[in-house]
Amino acid sequence: RDGTLLDKYGRRITYVRLSITDRCDFRCTYCMAEEMTFLPRHEVMSLEECLRVASVFVGLGVTKLRITGGEPLVRKDVMWLIERLGALPGLENLVLTTNGSQLDRFAQPLRAAGVKRINISLDTLRPDRFKKITRIGDLNKVLHGIEAARVAGFQRTKLNTVMMRDGNDDEFVDLVRFAVANELDISFIEEMPLGDIHGRNTTFISSEETRTVLSEHFELIPSTENSGGPARYWRIPGSESRIGFISPHSHNFCDTCNRVRITAKGELYPCLGQNDASQLLPALRSGDDDAVRQVIVDSMGIKPYGHDFTHQMNSPQVVRFMSMTGG
Ligand code: GTP
Ligand code: 5AD
Ligand code: SF4
Repeated sequence: RDGTLLDKYGRRITYVRLSITDRCDFRCTYCMAEEMTFLPRHEVMSLEECLRVASVFVGLGVTKLRITGGEPLVRKDVMWLIERLGALPGLENLVLTTNGSQLDRFAQPLRAAGVKRINISLDTLRPDRFKKITRIGDLNKVLHGIEAARVAGFQRTKLNTVMMRDGNDDEFVDLVRFAVANELDISFIEEMPLGDIHGRNTTFISSEETRTVLSEHFELIPSTENSGGPARYWRIPGSESRIGFISPHSHNFCDTCNRVRITAKGELYPCLGQNDASQLLPALRSGDDDAVRQVIVDSMGIKPYGHDFTHQMNSPQVVRFMSMTGG
């Protein structure tokens, strides 16, 4: 250990979200434009560079690393990286966010490599609707992936549901029932204006609205539990499942932000909702880990206080798509 990361507001950074590819085998309407161009290979960090940057962060006191994308499991040789991250001393909590399409194949090796938990995106349980939201995805593959995660022994896998008016808002009760029946947690996410995607202001649904609907069907008990993340949780008596709400619009969790994110290009974004970034790739490619460490330490000075999503649903200030930052 050679340090601690403190930003200028005194927030301690212990959590990194690392996007290992901007590519995805889905094209979710809220995440990507219909026609996306992906990064050329030479602009993307190699797996070896991903490992180095993660090691430097761990040396600076980071204990939690979430692998994201795009879809992380479409990255070639992804297990090479994950096996090494799983063995990194000081990294207590290696986790992954995935669309689930490849989990049938990867759940067991991920667990064997030491991944602690996985989050799986699931916005609908209807095959036709799934096709509409993801444009090219296959619901059955994801359902098999969820089952594979259970068989592999993952505990408390979490589903992520982005709330969309006239998109999936008639299914929230069914999704909660599905989570409870399969002993999963579920988080409902308020849509965020990342990337210029038309019509977000008409599809937006607040957490509060969804909670009101759910409370007509379930007894929701607020939980004091805090995962150290943005979600606030509720429980249903008699079930282990947690029902979470990620509400960047109504509940600003920036005060206690503990995280930064890295894109597949090696850009270090200290805030999801702002454009400030530092470049890690030149330092990585110079071969000098001290230079990488310095870029990271300096980035603490540009971590903004927070985002302002509420006022920009249809004119986003952040032009990069969610698939670039991995959320
Ligand atoms: P943990 O914090 O590790 O428990 O997981 P998570 O639920 O935050 O991670 P996941 O990758 O499943 O992301 C769920 C949603 O939370 C996504 O829509 C992310 O974009 C969002 N999210 C994660 N971190 C932040 C953040 O710092 N700010 C905002 N506004 N949203 C975030
Ligand atoms: N707003 C909110 N959540 C989003 N996700 C992707 N794009 C958006 C957006 N614009 C979610 C995905 C995935 C998680 C990492 O981020 O559904 O579950
Ligand atoms: Fe892919 Fe996830 Fe974006 Fe959907 S939300 S297109 S699954 S990266």
